[in-house]
Amino acid sequence: MDIWHIRGGRRLEGVYRVQGSKNASLPILAASILAPMESELENVPQLRDIDAALRILRHLGCEAEQHNNIVYIKSNTLTQSAIPHRLMLEMRSSVIFMGALLARCGEARLSPPGGCQLGKRPIDLHLAALRQMGAEIEESGGEILCRAKRLHGADIRLPFPSVGATENILLAATAAEGETVIRGAAREPEIEALAAYLSAAGCPVAGAGTDTVRVGKLRPRGSVRRRILADRIAAATVACAVAAAGGDVELQGAQSAHFSTVLHFLKQAGCAIITENTLVRLRSDGRLRAVGRVKTEPYPGFPTDAQPVLMAALLKARGCTRITETIFENRFRQVPELRRLGAEIALFDRSACIRGVDALHGAVLNATDLRGGAAMLVAGLAAEGETTVCDTGHIRRGYEDFDGCLRSLGADIVLTQLE
Ligand code: EPZ
Repeated sequence: MDIWHIRGGRRLEGVYRVQGSKNASLPILAASILAPMESELENVPQLRDIDAALRILRHLGCEAEQHNNIVYIKSNTLTQSAIPHRLMLEMRSSVIFMGALLARCGEARLSPPGGCQLGKRPIDLHLAALRQMGAEIEESGGEILCRAKRLHGADIRLPFPSVGATENILLAATAAEGETVIRGAAREPEIEALAAYLSAAGCPVAGAGTDTVRVGKLRPRGSVRRRILADRIAAATVACAVAAAGGDVELQGAQSAHFSTVLHFLKQAGCAIITENTLVRLRSDGRLRAVGRVKTEPYPGFPTDAQPVLMAALLKARGCTRITETIFENRFRQVPELRRLGAEIALFDRSACIRGVDALHGAVLNATDLRGGAAMLVAGLAAEGETTVCDTGHIRRGYEDFDGCLRSLGADIVLTQLE
């Protein structure tokens, strides 16, 4: 159990070097098994979800090591096409190994993935697309068995731009005979990052970042070296922390275009923001105003992963903000915890209305999920007195040395671990 102790009320000042992206790293780690090859990935964050992916790679027979922020993978020794239930449960992204294993071995045996409990998280779109490419899939006794003697290219139309389904199709398509076209594809920067890795590995991919992506067959080059892009959600989280607590912070290495919708609302709330190449400078006096309406949407819309932290930043903002969550059915799990700090939040089905209060008061909270937990830390930074966040490890799944980063900006935050 991780226990985060925060004494709120301190301004945040200094420089935050944005960590590498978790959600870009994970599908690329799965892609590293597509052919016998060596991958060297720089700027991979040191996180629990990355450890889980490396454990899966080692279980499959690969060599996989992380030294600081560099990950080395050698996948010529891969021997397995099955992932045990205990490893699948550790994170949602384990499901991306399905497309990769199918491409490499013609078979994948796994169980439904774990990850944050944000409501129903089916994988029907993944399975339907793989079937369209020639995979036979049986689901029984909590196990999913995918087999394909030969995968063939297909023209796939996704009814919703699912990030994970787009990634699984991209991976499986690298072994298919003929071109695969994904229409209605997710357009997230993490999809572009995966496509760039695949191109470097020897696979023709066109259109990543748009809603139509075309993929051809992989002609492996033997080794790939890539740098993982900056984590737009970690950057958005720190920006929200500075907005809430007040301060003046430079986010270095940030790709502002990737979280411009978050910066837009923080500006509207009263923050002064300057963006320049890979630098974002954000200043806040901690006295924000409400921003009206916010709605989460697939990229390039406002990201669902930044919804809890923006909510936390606006708890003391003058006026009312209505946040509507359209991606996940249960992504307001942070709300009852934030109310314990004195926040006024009313819930209506898919919307939350936040009426800014004059002050928040420290309390003991339970982290409900990764981004919900981060939201509690952000709120704690803006609260009077001590806030304690009890966390079964959610926050460290996605944020690298988060207490250290916040402390270096002047926050009074201590992380202790209980067995
Ligand atoms: C990715 O999850 C991210 N995870 C999530 O980040 C992020 O919130 C999400 O995309 C949306 O941006 C990783 O990249 C590892 P989806 P993913 O498939 O791929 C429904 C974080 O905090 N759906 O786009 O699981 C689904 O139920 C995490 O870092 C189906 O109905 O997201 C959900 O409502 C949390 N059937 C919606 O689509 C399917 O087959 C979005 O899911 C697939 C998805």
